[in-house]
Amino acid sequence: MTGPLEGRVAIVTGAARGIGAATARVLVAQGARVVLADVDGAGVERVAGELGPAAVARCADVTDEDAVAGLVATAVGTFGRLDVLHNNAVAQDPRDTDTVGAPDEAWRGAFDLVVMAAVYGCRHAIPAMVGTGGGSIVNTSSGAAVNPTGSHVAYGTAKAALETLSAYTAANYGTRGIRSNVVAPGFVLTEGVREVFDDAAVARFAEGAAAGRVCTPEDVAEVVAFLASDAARYVSGQVVRVTGGGARPLVW
Ligand SMILES: NC(=O)c1ccc[n+]([C@@H]2O[C@H](COP(=O)([O-])OP(=O)(O)OC[C@H]3O[C@@H](n4cnc5c(N)ncnc54)[C@H](O)[C@@H]3O)[C@@H](O)[C@H]2O)c1
Repeated sequence: MTGPLEGRVAIVTGAARGIGAATARVLVAQGARVVLADVDGAGVERVAGELGPAAVARCADVTDEDAVAGLVATAVGTFGRLDVLHNNAVAQDPRDTDTVGAPDEAWRGAFDLVVMAAVYGCRHAIPAMVGTGGGSIVNTSSGAAVNPTGSHVAYGTAKAALETLSAYTAANYGTRGIRSNVVAPGFVLTEGVREVFDDAAVARFAEGAAAGRVCTPEDVAEVVAFLASDAARYVSGQVVRVTGGGARPLVW
């Protein structure tokens, strides 16, 4: 039996752990071949190693345009084509606090990693995709793009910009076979989140969640795979908020 992504080739950024690693696993399970990219070279080699010949790892900083161009060249050179780009890498900056307090470096860092990395990805991936009939771009945003939190103003603002970039890409390249969508989780139980929140805090999140549990990386990865697939062939310019219904409503 062939999977829905049989014959497809994808790039996943931030694939050494968390949502990116889960997405790489789901894409390969559904038949795709994947270039996994991350600044954590050892981590991304480990994940790609689990996936066998359908995966190649690249240590790459996605804020470096040449490195991003290299990922597209790797996909085309190794697997012959490029169909899916998942712009997903992230890093948190403790200086990214609030409107008054966050320094320029935090703003520039957030915009370089969230917005410019996706611009570089689109700039180099779209021509390759158009050459083989089109492709699907899936950008990872966050609930923080629309629901301000107590900190991380630059991150949230950059994610809002990413959502707009995705809409522009969808509008401008649709006739050339490019779809561009956003997957926007709320709180996802990744390794990184486990480092910050203890079991009691995670249990409190689960208790407050409308879904009765917290989101897993796989919950997000399955949506990315759907958006990447032909099942989503008329879905473009959308933001899919993977929140499980958000917070449990107050009972009066
Ligand atoms: N975990 C959550 O609760 C949550 C919630 C909403 C949105 N998101 C979004 O989901 C995406 C993945 O988040 P996650 O929680 O899996 O993150 P994570 O921290 O677990 O993984 C991010 C990966 O990106 C890599 N990375 C960092 N800077 C990079 C760079 N310059 N170039 C290449 N790789 C780089 C890191 O090494 C890491 O492996 C992000 O876009 C994040 O904003 C996460």
